[in-house]
Amino acid sequence: MENAIKNYEDVDSWKTIMFLYTSALKEVGTKLEILNDEFQHVHQYNPIEHIKTRVKTPESIVKKLRKYGYEISIENMVKYVNDIAGVRLICSFTSDIYQLAEMIGNQSDLKVLSIKDYIKNPKESGYKSYHMLVSVPIYLSDSVVDTKVEIQIRTIAMDFWASLEHKIYYKFEGNAPDYISRDLRECAEMVSSLDEKMLSLNEAIQKCLEDQEAEKKKARKKHISHGERQAAGA
Ligand code: GTP
Ligand code: MG
Repeated sequence: MENAIKNYEDVDSWKTIMFLYTSALKEVGTKLEILNDEFQHVHQYNPIEHIKTRVKTPESIVKKLRKYGYEISIENMVKYVNDIAGVRLICSFTSDIYQLAEMIGNQSDLKVLSIKDYIKNPKESGYKSYHMLVSVPIYLSDSVVDTKVEIQIRTIAMDFWASLEHKIYYKFEGNAPDYISRDLRECAEMVSSLDEKMLSLNEAIQKCLEDQEAEKKKARKKHISHGERQAAGA
């Protein structure tokens, strides 16, 4: 890594690059917290359960460049490794994912570079998540640098599956026996139907609460007009 750093002309050091990615994570993290707080303020509801951020380790960056067949250099890392800065947004319901994605897309200083919807098109493994690659401008004392951040948006259930699948697969280093991959795909389907059930349950609860509220309003109105009639008669 050290040798590669010396070859790169546009940035002076590995430290500068990592500083940019760490700053980008802070910027995006704050934006997402503000969106969540605003949502709470307007709708009395938090779409985000929690936010995880991480900067990729030098070892994983080198591993990824090798996997893609690129020479190990800072230039290649900046160009080809899109998830050096990563944010994971864990939501309650699938509907929250799309709402958040739209809110992120509407942020005028974020540029959406690409979107991968693994919820509509799950991966062969069964993996589901909504990925957005964005860039955020980082204002330095003498320049502005657009820095890439990968945002993964998923439900708690999708996150549960992905975390455990990652752990299991890691042990096999990608060569898991067929029956294990099949069982994992089956688990992914179970997780999806759990998500669907929870979403429709939540919709039913909302509807039920709205109906109750409407009934209460109607009863109050009736009570008032009854009172008015009595007052007029007296
Ligand atoms: P890679 O990171 O090399 O896969 O690049 P890519 O351009 O193919 O990106 P992709 O859209 O596949 O998303 C990469 C990230 O998504 C990974 O770093 C994981 O965090 C997550 N991911 C993708 N597929 C899987 C999967 O099958 N299982 C789990 N647990 N996570 C996955
Ligand atoms: Mg991949």
